[in-house]
Amino acid sequence: MKTYKIAVLGGDGIGPEVVEGAINIMEHVASKNNFSFEFNHYLAGGCAIDEKNDPMPQETIDGCKASDAVLLGAVGGEKWDTLPGKMRPESGLLRIRAELGLFANLRPAQLFKELADACPLKSELTEGGLDILVIRELTGGIYFGEKDRNETSGYDTLKYSDYEIRRIAKVAFETAMKRNKNVVSVDKANVLESSRVWREYVAEVAKEYPEVTQTNMYVDNAAMQLVRYPNQFDVIVTGNMFGDILSDEAAMITGSIGMLPSASLAEGKFGLYEPVHGSAPDIAGQGIANPIATIMSVAMMFRYSLDLPKQADEIESAVAKAVAQGARTKDIAVEGEKVLSTKEMTQCIIDNLEA
Ligand code: IPM
Ligand code: MG
Repeated sequence: MKTYKIAVLGGDGIGPEVVEGAINIMEHVASKNNFSFEFNHYLAGGCAIDEKNDPMPQETIDGCKASDAVLLGAVGGEKWDTLPGKMRPESGLLRIRAELGLFANLRPAQLFKELADACPLKSELTEGGLDILVIRELTGGIYFGEKDRNETSGYDTLKYSDYEIRRIAKVAFETAMKRNKNVVSVDKANVLESSRVWREYVAEVAKEYPEVTQTNMYVDNAAMQLVRYPNQFDVIVTGNMFGDILSDEAAMITGSIGMLPSASLAEGKFGLYEPVHGSAPDIAGQGIANPIATIMSVAMMFRYSLDLPKQADEIESAVAKAVAQGARTKDIAVEGEKVLSTKEMTQCIIDNLEA
């Protein structure tokens, strides 16, 4: 029987709670199939700072490297917000992305039909739903360029090289081939040299995918187009910082930011999977967090890292059914609706996996 090794980084706030829900789903799916999971838990984020004085201890990184995939909850919280840059939970995140080579960040923004009222856009703009995939370059660009400061000034460097652009473009085109075959590459090529290089190499990769329509868009325009006419987008591919910003915008227009998963992929099959939402310290410890984003992240893990596409589909449809039946945690409930705990929502999804 195949055993998959999963590194679990629950992190801070509601992180461990939503991760527990996701693990229950994984155990359940495994029990009905011919494979099992070995879960190894590691410290990351604020809790790692408290215990090890390091937001991403080496043993966490080593544990991840020795696994088939990583499941992350969320890191950070007010308690650690005043620490200097290198000690903050965020710097631990950047470190693990770099060390594990997680260069491709996939952030789907999908609208759940039943939650359409939560979408802040006029309903005619989202007719037929919304299904956008933001593919963000995650280990290069301005996040990782040379940076420094003195008394009165500071700088960061934005640099992209041929191989970094080609490999993220390839992920975008490969993914688009399985979707609606449309890639919009977002840059600021009217101003930035790094963006002009970006465009050239994206165009080069595009030639290998004649079936895919590829266009370019400046980032300021893309930010506007996302709220003007979001359904024009299928796959958006962009650099690290533009992707950070646009993926938040794309997530928000679905109105279900607490429901959205993400995958950060390395070359090959390895990847780290986490909900898009943060550690929500205000509701931590109450057992009321919505586990759906983390459970949907597990579906992505099954599809991209574990070669279990059928089980990935099953998880996604069990979530969709639970939502369609009216299962609501507090964050997605409207007045008068019955509110489920994290555990009850997880159980409802398991029941639908059974059905
Ligand atoms: C994200 C976050 C991180 C980023 C922060 C917490 C470092 O905003 O994953 O989008 O900017 O990449
Ligand atoms: Mg962000």
